[in-house]
Amino acid sequence: MTDAILTESRTTDAAAWWRQAAVYQIYPRSFADANGDGIGDIPGILSRVDYLADLGIDAVWLSPFYPSALADGGYDVADYRDVDPRLGTLTDFDAMVAALHSRGIKVVVDIVPNHTSDLHAWFQEALAAGRGSAARERYIFRDGTGPDGAEPPTDWQSTFGGGAWERVEDGQWYFHHFAVEQPDLNWANPEVRADFLTTLRFWSDRGVDGFRIDVAHMLTKDLTEPLPQTAELEAIPRDGNHPLFDRDDVHEVYAEWRRVFDSYDPPRTAVAEAWVETPERRARYASAEGLGQAFNFDLLVADFDATQFRTIIADNLAQAEATGSSTTWVLSNHDVTRHATRYGLPALNGRRVKQGTEWVQAGGPAEQLDRDGGLRRARAATLLLLGLPGSTYLYQGEELGLHEVAAIGPDQRQDPAFFRGSEFDRLGRDGCRVPLPWTAAGSSFGFGADGAHLPQPDWFAEYAVDAEAADPESTLNLYRQALRLRHELQTGEQMEWIETGRDDVLRFARPNGWQVLTNFGTAPYPFEGEAVLSSVPTSPGILPAESTVWLAPQS
Ligand code: NOJ
Repeated sequence: MTDAILTESRTTDAAAWWRQAAVYQIYPRSFADANGDGIGDIPGILSRVDYLADLGIDAVWLSPFYPSALADGGYDVADYRDVDPRLGTLTDFDAMVAALHSRGIKVVVDIVPNHTSDLHAWFQEALAAGRGSAARERYIFRDGTGPDGAEPPTDWQSTFGGGAWERVEDGQWYFHHFAVEQPDLNWANPEVRADFLTTLRFWSDRGVDGFRIDVAHMLTKDLTEPLPQTAELEAIPRDGNHPLFDRDDVHEVYAEWRRVFDSYDPPRTAVAEAWVETPERRARYASAEGLGQAFNFDLLVADFDATQFRTIIADNLAQAEATGSSTTWVLSNHDVTRHATRYGLPALNGRRVKQGTEWVQAGGPAEQLDRDGGLRRARAATLLLLGLPGSTYLYQGEELGLHEVAAIGPDQRQDPAFFRGSEFDRLGRDGCRVPLPWTAAGSSFGFGADGAHLPQPDWFAEYAVDAEAADPESTLNLYRQALRLRHELQTGEQMEWIETGRDDVLRFARPNGWQVLTNFGTAPYPFEGEAVLSSVPTSPGILPAESTVWLAPQS
């Protein structure tokens, strides 16, 4: 293991803040509830700005806070240029941005351009205006097949399960990739394109620093008749000309967006959520002429395994180098089982895994969860990633070492993926969206005054912010120390592997002399150097099983 991965040193000016940022994802409805209605809100975020500043993050990314009927946790947007009244007002939003900026924290918001809510004024107009109308041209309406058009135009399935077409009163059908309440927009329509430019300017003018783009690979479609049925559709390669996914022409949209981003000083940033087939296809979304950065989700589907980590790190740094972008490290987000839990279940259980080109969920039994082992491995993995070049996206609650909440009854669940029996995620995603525990005691563990919109288990008390703040060995204190030291460590975008003599131990150095050492195995590993931070308590010169240490530069 002696090969080096060197990425060219990049500009360090203010416009490049995103290249090595630690970005903390807030799922607003589950972060902090200031008005006590059980749903987190913008004033709740405002009340926790000190917490965010103490954590040491560089930016927050807010999942949707727009008006929404919550058919898909807010990813069904009824108005792109407002705040859901249950979450606050635009004035609250401005106050939150100002407070975050005053503490040096950038703000990234979520843009959901593939679909609107069915309650969006455009969709309501489309329903009222009837077939053949200009209002219907903003969406994807088609006549059905079979006698009286009573059969959908195709047999396509939606991501959350069930058919991808829904029939409306006058007999036409509309297309929805996701829930029935999320009709897909027609990106061939210039009015749709123009409206999103207005939305991007609206938030940029309010001081937002960047955007996370929801399913960035799905917007443009080729729905020329005759439409293929599923079997035929699946045989079409996703190489730029597929009717539904990752089409080359989607980049025309992002080139236009880039012109808007670059009209601001500093330019607004963007990161693509693009689940595409190959690293090369993903790189297109990260181009400087487009969105600039794309999520690398490879670790969401990898085991806690040195060989897998090493390959993923090497591939993604090389890919970032080729595009001129920086890579992104992600272990948890609002769509996947929390990584402390993934690493505590038998391999391939309880999480989605990729088999060939198929996503499957192996459905691991919760009783097999090794809670301590999972958290130990999660802490080691996070500390490794925070030492790498590139930006790291952290998901609220992972800094507490939270596990997934499995005990949510069917009547308490909210995720459409659960209700529609999605192939994509049979258990649904509510378990990682349970409101945060701020205090070990008190109503809803300090989340709000009057309960929480998803049930919090008793064991949340152990992971509460106040309990962890008082414990020097807690996961919260590990994150705080790592994020603080990270500002010293992240001085260039290079790293170099160092030989360890063991396949299950990875070691790398940064150009300023910082080193990161991770033992993925179960046998302790002796090393030379002084550990300044470790994911578990260590004895000098010994790296315990399943742990990471950071070594400071030799003076
Ligand atoms: C990806 C988002 O992360 C997910 O939460 C959402 O359900 C889908 N896109 C649809 O918007």
